[in-house]
Amino acid sequence: MKKTISLLMVLLMVFATMTACSSSSNQPADGGQTEPSGEVITIKVGHVLNESSPFHAASLKFQELVNERSGGSLNVEVYPSALLGNDRELAEGLQMGTVDVSLSDSSTVTGFCPELQMFSLPYLFKNSEHAYAVLDGEIGQKLLDLFHEKSGIIGLAWGENGWRQETNSKHPVTCADDMKGLKIRTMEISCHLDYWRSLGADPTPMAWTEVYTALQQGTVDGEENPVQTIYTQKVYEVQKYMSMTNHVYAPMLIMMSESTWNKMTKEQQDICVQAAKEACAYERQFVVDLEAKAIQELPSLGVELLLADQIDVESFREAAGPIIEKYSKEMGVEELVKQIQEIGNKY
Ligand code: MLT
Repeated sequence: MKKTISLLMVLLMVFATMTACSSSSNQPADGGQTEPSGEVITIKVGHVLNESSPFHAASLKFQELVNERSGGSLNVEVYPSALLGNDRELAEGLQMGTVDVSLSDSSTVTGFCPELQMFSLPYLFKNSEHAYAVLDGEIGQKLLDLFHEKSGIIGLAWGENGWRQETNSKHPVTCADDMKGLKIRTMEISCHLDYWRSLGADPTPMAWTEVYTALQQGTVDGEENPVQTIYTQKVYEVQKYMSMTNHVYAPMLIMMSESTWNKMTKEQQDICVQAAKEACAYERQFVVDLEAKAIQELPSLGVELLLADQIDVESFREAAGPIIEKYSKEMGVEELVKQIQEIGNKY
């Protein structure tokens, strides 16, 4: 009898541990209310792009799903065009609890969690399917957990900013050597700065909100961004040349403030996580469709566009090798980078 009771107790403990483990892997953070407060919780969502951007499309999808599924207990408000601040201010707002949700290129929050820079390494991903498999799998979740641990910000889901391309106002770029001497605006992220420097360019970090004016006034010669950003944010008005270098796959992150998270019930938290995932899936397709349209239209808008098969992409890729090696070592993510490259063999 004693033996049976002990066995039952062991089984119960194993079951309790398994349940705890499986719920924590789907749950970005502990906390939350057990009972709804009865008050409507307003969720302010900010991003830096305008209303024709994929970030805005994702925000509106998130708003629609959350408002509908929460039965009105959550009320999402969307603020585009940096109305709640630039990317750095949005991230700080998430930490302070003055911004509830933001959508940003994940490179913009690497200051809080350097390991996230891993996804911004040049030529790390072979194609979009490779990137989706990594971001939506174990490695993507591991990085979201680490980001939460280091920053206190909850990563809800991975969306897409897109494949970054080079533009400038000086001359066509057909190979890595053509970058020599170009003053190019980049995000404030050390592996990008180092990469462009290694090609002989003069990279200048700057917040996105200042880029159009800097290009217009000639403070910088060029910049690099996904096709959809060059198109929807009218970068083509101030840049003549564009080359499809595809040098970085840039993920977008939907992030939530921990203080907002903790105001919600478990059910409301689950609604937000699920809505963010669906909004990201919707947004990835939105980017693909928009980029196809933009590639058709940009030449008629005055851009001299060179597609990937019209340039020597290999010369750009070769220069990425030493940067991947240096930064994987510095970030202590050599093993993860190796795993990502191995996953790439399937694509
Ligand atoms: C940037 O270059 O700063 C970003 O790609 C802009 C964005 O958030 O899309």
